[in-house]
Amino acid sequence: MTYLITGGAGFIGSNFVKYMLATHPDAKLIVYDALTYAGNLGTLAEELKNPRVTFVKGDICDRDMTEKVFSDYEIEYVVNFAAESHVDRSIENPQLFLQVNVLGTQNLLDTAKKYWTTGKDENNYPIWREGVKYLQVSTDEVYGSLGEEGFFTETTPLDPRSPYSAAKAGGDLIVRAYGETYRMPVNITRCSNNYGPYHFPEKLIPLIIRNILAGKQLPVYGDGSNVRDWLYVEDHCKAIDAVLHRGRLDEVYNIGGHNEEKNIEIVRLVIKTIREIMEKEPKYREVLKKKEITADGTIDISWINDDLISFVKDRQGHDQRYAIDPTKISEELGWLPETTFDEGIVKTIYWYLDNQQWVEEVTSGDYMKYYEQMYHNR
Ligand code: NAD
Ligand code: DAU
Repeated sequence: MTYLITGGAGFIGSNFVKYMLATHPDAKLIVYDALTYAGNLGTLAEELKNPRVTFVKGDICDRDMTEKVFSDYEIEYVVNFAAESHVDRSIENPQLFLQVNVLGTQNLLDTAKKYWTTGKDENNYPIWREGVKYLQVSTDEVYGSLGEEGFFTETTPLDPRSPYSAAKAGGDLIVRAYGETYRMPVNITRCSNNYGPYHFPEKLIPLIIRNILAGKQLPVYGDGSNVRDWLYVEDHCKAIDAVLHRGRLDEVYNIGGHNEEKNIEIVRLVIKTIREIMEKEPKYREVLKKKEITADGTIDISWINDDLISFVKDRQGHDQRYAIDPTKISEELGWLPETTFDEGIVKTIYWYLDNQQWVEEVTSGDYMKYYEQMYHNR
């Protein structure tokens, strides 16, 4: 089977590439990625040595390139991770998000339609090759924001509120349109907040880890009461695998593990966990940028505490709460999350402690300029 993994050099896409190689010995993967600031080939250094993986640098909006990849390879599945993914950036540059997340998605769908159809039936519907499928990786943010009660189900009306989520909703709608109008075999998955290895440090959890290690303040938007529903990235990959291979055509599947938490609690937990690791395993203190030596000759960690937290100006239009009801995917496909948040956050923190070189690499470009602009006046 040949899979086109668009956005495969980003956070979730690269985890999916690793997961597919480990679990599907027959899978050939074409990783297609524009390598924006969020895409990093270093993440796939090992995988790119594998003859089952081919990398193609390209933009999902570029028709010549998407056609080239479909004509060069016999693609059976498309899993579209490629997107502009950061809400804060979408507030600064909404048009880019519409271009990539809506028009890029439409271009991918249309290219697939050209290469996956063999003519038309008597009612003018395209005749699709056996066994092909397009899966759109989407987000719970398309449903908008919840109050204290309730969960998003697949029938919750779309009510996106940021340029990012509006663009993702636009992408979802055009996927649905191709499913209905051309009977294209499609699925849409809508997942809650992911965390885990290779998460770009513009997002809350890796940003907080990076800032602690750098001895910097931890910016919490507003009063920190906003709630996100966290899922370990590998569990998301398993859910996509289940939907891709066993999901009913044209269906939407929500993905989430009932792990809601207030942002402020996440930040406190990360501080506490890093401090505990450094108490237990002093060798990790070497990772700290701030190395003040105490009277007993060890690197001081007493400053790793809640005083690092800085409440800053809120995100514009900040969604209050997300929470997924995963009943459909659990009952139909037997998917359940396997990594608890307690385990996952510890694994993630160790990963960052052990992979500082990756963090240095991905933040060596425009990251400091971005950080300065985004956080300077907050
Ligand atoms: P990411 O920003 O880490 O990665 C996005 C990848 O897409 C990068 O490798 C980037 O280079 C690539 N890309 C961007 N624009 C492109 C273009 N025009 N053409 C080709 N490649 C392009 O994002 P992520 O967090 O890994 O999210 C992946 C997908 O999952 C997105 O569609 C996002 O909306 C969705 N999603 C993310 C989460 C989450 O918590 N991170 C949750 C639910 C859904
Ligand atoms: O829900 C799924 C979505 O989760 C995905 O579709 C998005 O691609 C992904 O980026 C993520 O969106 P969020 O906006 O929820 O993630 P982010 O990490 O940016 O923020 C998480 C919460 O933390 C949010 O309430 C804003 C807050 N926050 C974020 C940052 C970066 C802070 O308080 N401080 C920060 O510095």
